[in-house]
Amino acid sequence: MFRDIADTAAPAVMPPALHAGHNDLRQGLLEPQARISPKYLYDARGCELFEQITQLPEYYPTRTEAAILADAGPAMAQALRGHEVLIELGAGNCEKVRALCRSLWPRHFVGVDIAGDFLYQAVRRLAEEFPGLDARAVHADITKPLQLPPDLPQAGRLVFYPGSSIGNFDPADALAMLRRMHGLLGPDGGLLIGIDLPKPLHWLEPAYDDAQGVTARFNLNVLSHVNTLIGSDFDEDDWAHHAFFNTRHSRIEMHLRARQPLAVAWPGGGRRFAEGETIHTENSYKYPLPHFQDMLAQAGFSTSKVWTDERQWFAMVYAHA
Ligand SMILES: C[S@@+](CC[C@H](N)C(=O)[O-])C[C@H]1O[C@@H](n2cnc3c(N)ncnc32)[C@H](O)[C@@H]1O
Repeated sequence: MFRDIADTAAPAVMPPALHAGHNDLRQGLLEPQARISPKYLYDARGCELFEQITQLPEYYPTRTEAAILADAGPAMAQALRGHEVLIELGAGNCEKVRALCRSLWPRHFVGVDIAGDFLYQAVRRLAEEFPGLDARAVHADITKPLQLPPDLPQAGRLVFYPGSSIGNFDPADALAMLRRMHGLLGPDGGLLIGIDLPKPLHWLEPAYDDAQGVTARFNLNVLSHVNTLIGSDFDEDDWAHHAFFNTRHSRIEMHLRARQPLAVAWPGGGRRFAEGETIHTENSYKYPLPHFQDMLAQAGFSTSKVWTDERQWFAMVYAHA
């Protein structure tokens, strides 16, 4: 059964709280190191491109995490017994939660994502596949206080946050995010979270700069999305994709680099970019497992189980609230 707690009549329309003027975008573009939050990478085209990225030979995270979910399925089902309410943050195409639904058979599922249309379709497909499941879509920005359906049971909640999406936040924001997740849970609640672990550069960098240029198109597409949101006049052809591992911060950084000196304008503002100047669009932190477990503890969680792959490239951590 599919239920939508937002506006079913016009799912493409962002709820008002989501588009509150996009002042953060204008402010970010005006900072000395210009930046665009990675949440703006996910308009409809961005979601399609991300799906293509997950199929690329270089992009190990999706495939590695999916293999952990499949291989550890029975052990996970045992450890997660009693969680009948699944809440997936940044649910995207809801692909990974399928494996969990097959082993856990939860009663309730809530998928939360900033990309409304994409989410509604994914949750609808999930509801068709699992007819007994009460499946709902919440179109929301998870960096803001989250309103879950008021009738969602408090007991037995499990927050599912795969894809190492927690790595897109700076450590202080990641900790705040973990605390917000903790706040969604009752005393019997749990968190199942995917973490991309540090690994050699020659594996890391191509995953964010593939030979077919799909990640480049994904990164550049953010400019069209920003044009739609704030009426700016970015031209994708003026910019080049740039991704590298920043060793000091243990993170992949994605930037867009100006190919020549240029000016960008939007209603009420604008700025100039020198040749080679960049807009920082995404970080992807690679936390050593003990470091991440410390963060979980600071957010009020205690680690209960960890599953990894053979190469120890990726971990799925189950933590109690
Ligand atoms: C890297 S994809 C991961 C998708 C899926 N969970 C997976 O593991 O393959 C990130 C997802 O989070 C969503 N997202 C990004 N920022 C968000 C935000 N601030 N609030 C809600 N959803 C967000 C995107 O729309 C996208 O579907």
